[in-house]
Amino acid sequence: MQAGLCIAMGATALGAQSSGYGLPKTDARMNRFVDSVLARLTLEEKLGQLTQYRGPWGLTGPQTREAGAADIKAGRVGSFLGVRGAAATRELQTIAVTQSRTRIPVLFADDIVHGWRTIFPVPLAEAASFNPEIAERTARVAAVEGAAAGIHWTFAPMVDITREPRWGRIVEGAGEDPFLGSIIAAAKVRGFQGRSLRDSLSLMATAKHFVGYGAAEGGRDYNTTDIPLRTLHEMYLPPFEAAVKAGARSIMAAFNEIDGVPMHANKRLIDGVLRDRWRWDGILVSDYTGVMELLQHGLSADSAAVGRLALDAGVDVDMVSNIFYKDVAREVRAGRLPVAVVDSAVRRVLRTKYELGLFTDPYKGSSTAREQALTLTAESRSLARTAAQQSIVLLRNERNTLPLTAAGKTIAVIGALASDARSSLGGWAAAGRAEDAVTVLAGIRNAVGSNGRVLYAAGAPVEERDTTGFAEAVRVAREADVVVLVVGEHQDMSAEARNRSSLDLPGVQQQLVERIYAVGKPTVAVLMNGRPLSVPWMASNVPAILETWYLGVEHGNAVADVLFGSVNPSGKLPVTFPRTVGQIPIYYNHKNTGRPSDAKERYTSQYIDVPFTPLYPFGHGLSYTTFSYSAPILSRAKAGTHESVDVSVTVTNSGSRTGEEVVQLYVRDDAGSVTRPVKELKGFTRVSLAPGEQRTVTFRLTPELLAFYDLQYREVVEPGTFSIMVGGSSEQLQRTTLELTGRVHVLDARPIR
Ligand code: NOJ
Repeated sequence: MQAGLCIAMGATALGAQSSGYGLPKTDARMNRFVDSVLARLTLEEKLGQLTQYRGPWGLTGPQTREAGAADIKAGRVGSFLGVRGAAATRELQTIAVTQSRTRIPVLFADDIVHGWRTIFPVPLAEAASFNPEIAERTARVAAVEGAAAGIHWTFAPMVDITREPRWGRIVEGAGEDPFLGSIIAAAKVRGFQGRSLRDSLSLMATAKHFVGYGAAEGGRDYNTTDIPLRTLHEMYLPPFEAAVKAGARSIMAAFNEIDGVPMHANKRLIDGVLRDRWRWDGILVSDYTGVMELLQHGLSADSAAVGRLALDAGVDVDMVSNIFYKDVAREVRAGRLPVAVVDSAVRRVLRTKYELGLFTDPYKGSSTAREQALTLTAESRSLARTAAQQSIVLLRNERNTLPLTAAGKTIAVIGALASDARSSLGGWAAAGRAEDAVTVLAGIRNAVGSNGRVLYAAGAPVEERDTTGFAEAVRVAREADVVVLVVGEHQDMSAEARNRSSLDLPGVQQQLVERIYAVGKPTVAVLMNGRPLSVPWMASNVPAILETWYLGVEHGNAVADVLFGSVNPSGKLPVTFPRTVGQIPIYYNHKNTGRPSDAKERYTSQYIDVPFTPLYPFGHGLSYTTFSYSAPILSRAKAGTHESVDVSVTVTNSGSRTGEEVVQLYVRDDAGSVTRPVKELKGFTRVSLAPGEQRTVTFRLTPELLAFYDLQYREVVEPGTFSIMVGGSSEQLQRTTLELTGRVHVLDARPIR
């Protein structure tokens, strides 16, 4: 109950917009120090501080030049992307602090997204845990391992909300909901940054990609977006605000444009929203060659001009374009860019280095011995297993097919993914190694031991259309008492530049599923994938389906824990699963329209060839037990628009096993001066209940949670009725009505822009 209250209240604070936050206390000593360093720099050295070069592991776009010792000595490098390991980072840092004229330490950055060497569930999977505590703890371990490898700065969390399952990068974020996304964003920032950036085992977090990147048209990475102002502020900006509020000291610009202005030149949003409205003063880093790409966007044909535009818009660090260093000095000398703009950016970079403690200890205690001692420890692996267990979603379980019994049974494991260790790790595996990962096959073998027999056949490759393995798979299935079919996408089908036009099982896996199912043995499907898949045939035929995403080093053990019932699944979908790609965009928090979907009424919003409903809705996830919900009880049925109301619900474990449930609270503003979604998540919490046990969960609904942007684009709460809904999925809800009275309550009168 306490946790529920906490989450709801935490979210309250996220909504606050009236004043700035995320600011360090004005530190006069730091500012004096930073100014004194700045005063010693030449214009070229200043621009060097704003320049990020690539190291050996930093290639995530076009080939760009790697920097080396000579560049550091000449003051051309402010930071590196993709130089790894205590030894390598120490070596370069020594050059910076002993052989460069400026003696300024360099920053080492990398993409530490879901772990460094101990790989945790991919972010979309972890969001399915609906557990910010887990999200924070995994980020903490990632920070410890990354910092021990000499890194200071991670390009995570990725906080892009998306309604686009075709988009490969959906795997890197928390899914489709801004409330869940905000809670997870804040948790990740807390985990990465720890108590203080100065701590030798903290990483500076980067909320990315600012902003709207997840709305890429057609789900094609890097594509244009078309986002109305209100949607931008309601859907895409909240997780950034939450990250800023949690103290994120860095934000990365997105590749997309908004309303004709690429984000790397978008002064209105960088200066206007981040720095002005939110009073955020961290460093804004470009994405990989993002400054150079302003040329392709068509803002100018001249690289000096795009460098100027980016700096002037508020981009502080040029990741690998090398335009700031190469071309911007000319713009300053010609009077086209005030040197004060450069100075502000340099100040922010120097301040970051100061906050990280690099001017005191440029190595932050880094050594190969520390690196070894802190990497892939038994505790980290154990956390990886817990996180993986909580990220698994039981999509279907007819006739209690799951959990399985191993004793005396022959289990056929079928599918190429079952033995694909690299895929278990997922897309941004940083320093992760396939040999560290437990595959599904290995996990099942570990669990079964000598109690039963495990047979294996790959059946079919993931992508190719090769059916030669079918016969062996059928033979193995016939020999078994039960079949575990592991199908989906391999890890390289998700993440950056990995978009699909179909959400079906790739290759010949659908045929494989049908062939194996026809053998007639009890069959369980284990999905591995980085995006929602449309698997309608499976959903109506295969009796049990587990969504396991890519769960990291403990993937197979966690899957076996759930398959054999030592762990009761508790994950919930952070994203809607469509029946077919043709339903996209499909998301739970949609508008009602003037003709709400109704299968019985012809002239309503629907399709003639497929139901309008999703295959699996947001928030869906079953358990081996069942939970029943009371109707929500309000602390009062009527309140003023400026007042908070508590919502309580009693949840009962009505089945026969102990289980954890994610209790979800949704709200609809029934009538407003602008239309509101049919439901919006406004609170959630996990409760663990023994059979027959009951718990009352209380959420606090504050004005911030009931507010929206009105016709004048002000943040307001309007009087009227609100549907208050609680349940274990966005589609299975108990309801009541709250009435707010009085005048329109204006929370923030500054119109959004
Ligand atoms: C491009 C990606 O968009 C971004 O997320 C990543 O941090 C950079 N490459 C650096 O690898």
